[in-house]
Amino acid sequence: MVAALRRAVVRAVRAPSVHNTQPWRFVLGASTLRVEQDRSRQLRVLDPAGRQLALSCGCALFNARVSLAADGFSPVVRCFPSGQQGPVVAVLDLGGEPAPDADRADLAALEPYLERRQTNRRRFDDTPVPAGVTARLVAAARAEGADLMQVLAEEHRQAVAVLSQRADALQNANPAYRAEIRAWTSTDPGRSDGVPALAVPHVDGTAQDDIPIRDFDTAGKGWLPADTRSSRSQCLLLLGTDADQPRAWLSAGQALERILLEITRAGYAASPLTQVVEVASTRIALRTELSLTMQPHVLLRVGRAGVTPGTPRRLLDDVLEEKPNP
Ligand SMILES: Cc1cc2nc3c(=O)[nH]c(=O)nc-3n(C[C@H](O)[C@H](O)[C@H](O)COP(=O)(O)O)c2cc1C
Repeated sequence: MVAALRRAVVRAVRAPSVHNTQPWRFVLGASTLRVEQDRSRQLRVLDPAGRQLALSCGCALFNARVSLAADGFSPVVRCFPSGQQGPVVAVLDLGGEPAPDADRADLAALEPYLERRQTNRRRFDDTPVPAGVTARLVAAARAEGADLMQVLAEEHRQAVAVLSQRADALQNANPAYRAEIRAWTSTDPGRSDGVPALAVPHVDGTAQDDIPIRDFDTAGKGWLPADTRSSRSQCLLLLGTDADQPRAWLSAGQALERILLEITRAGYAASPLTQVVEVASTRIALRTELSLTMQPHVLLRVGRAGVTPGTPRRLLDDVLEEKPNP
């Protein structure tokens, strides 16, 4: 049992996280795994409310669930057992009665994709994403209590593009935002967190993106080609939930990772573009212009692209505490 829980942590840390902050900690008991948010890694400028932090922890929690399902377990999962402001985002418990495991086979089937999933900021080719694939992604979001909407109408695509540009420009005009992004990008191959130059496009002013990829190329060393062609005609998906508080963000994070793993399984690539939801004024305008009833959390672009270099992770010793008799 402890071996399966330890393996779940190994898989959990492969999750995506905003700026690769990896804002999580894990406490391993004899039959439980506690997932905690690490507020010392919160992005104070980009993410003052902790939405992206909770989304990132939700992604890690989902990976842990997939790993345990693949090992034959159906843990009882208690989210925010000591309230939504506390450090503990979830406890996975293998000790008591197993949870009903109708979903176990579906979760276990995603296990081979935990290592293959990556955020891909390359140019996507023009192959459309078939409706059958997007329908599977919508179902994946639903299974985690979230909503996924494909942005289809031309006026909605136009609104997403204009608002994303506005959000990106507002953020980049803020020196504190630029300082924060500089602190979380790196050309140091020995660094175990942050976004490495190898995984981002070179920014030289030639990109014709009408939905801007976030400018992580703070040192002018972005290794991927500058031409990312992130346009409003690509497959755009918007993930949201009914509510807008930490519990909903945690569900949205689990839904995000479930969708990303399904995208990987289908042979497609994806990258989150969250500037438009990070800036309060553009998030509000997005809800109005797309007549959204849900609270939007993540915009995703999906398409086909070659693999990109991987991103680093912190050592297990830095994130995992073992307490066999807590
Ligand atoms: C909540 C959340 C928001 C993110 N927002 C963006 C974004 O706006 N732009 C971007 O290029 N990547 C974004 N990412 C991707 C992270 O930068 C990426 O997960 C991290 O660098 C680790 O790389 P990997 O996903 O390839 O493992 C986001 C990821 C998460 C979980």
